Amino acid sequence: MREQGSQIVTPVRGPSRPSLSHEPSGSNVSHKIFHAQKLHRKPKEARREERSAATMASLSFAAAAAAVNLRRPDVTSDFGNRQRTSTLVRRKRLALSLNAAGSTEPSSAAPEKPEIELEFIGPKPGADGSYPVDKAKAVSGEKLLRNIMNENKIELYATYGKAMNCGGGGSCGTCIVEIIDGKDLLNERTNTELRYLKKKPESWRLACQTIVGNKENSGKVVVQRLPQWKK
Ligand code: FES
Repeated sequence: MREQGSQIVTPVRGPSRPSLSHEPSGSNVSHKIFHAQKLHRKPKEARREERSAATMASLSFAAAAAAVNLRRPDVTSDFGNRQRTSTLVRRKRLALSLNAAGSTEPSSAAPEKPEIELEFIGPKPGADGSYPVDKAKAVSGEKLLRNIMNENKIELYATYGKAMNCGGGGSCGTCIVEIIDGKDLLNERTNTELRYLKKKPESWRLACQTIVGNKENSGKVVVQRLPQWKK
């Protein structure tokens, strides 16, 4: 409390002012001061507080919106792109697997080469009286008859030829076979054969001089092994 003129004035302190209603009704000066303080100070403080609150609210909202706007593109674009890429990869893999599983025609595979089937009849009959037959296959025009027989472990030489053959050089005349069927699928007799087989049946060939097929033909060739044993 402080004195103002001849009256005692009670200082006004904020919201506690309504409790001053017990003040003497005759204190007009204190009421005027109170109202003046109320009119001049509270609206400014209130406005300042309101502006401050509004500013803080708008700043908080702007910051929140900016954060959302900054994050959203990352989330949507990055995650979305990864998801789309993953989906595309899965679809491509599925398409490839379906093509591989369902394809009946090889798209890039080379066309199959013609083949020659071969049957080799043994020189002596078995216990049941039938002659043994060995079978083999060869790509047309790529191999000699001697090599095909060696690769398939089919006996070609007689006793002397086993020990003394020239290894396919065309200088021993021991690799003799007879073509029973399919001679048109083979090459013509070579000069080496004409020399070694001059007095032999035309159906005889030297296996090391005989090319099986001509790269374009296909069919079956029947060969008699060791024909000299049957004469
Ligand atoms: S292996 Fe010698 S001529 Fe055929």
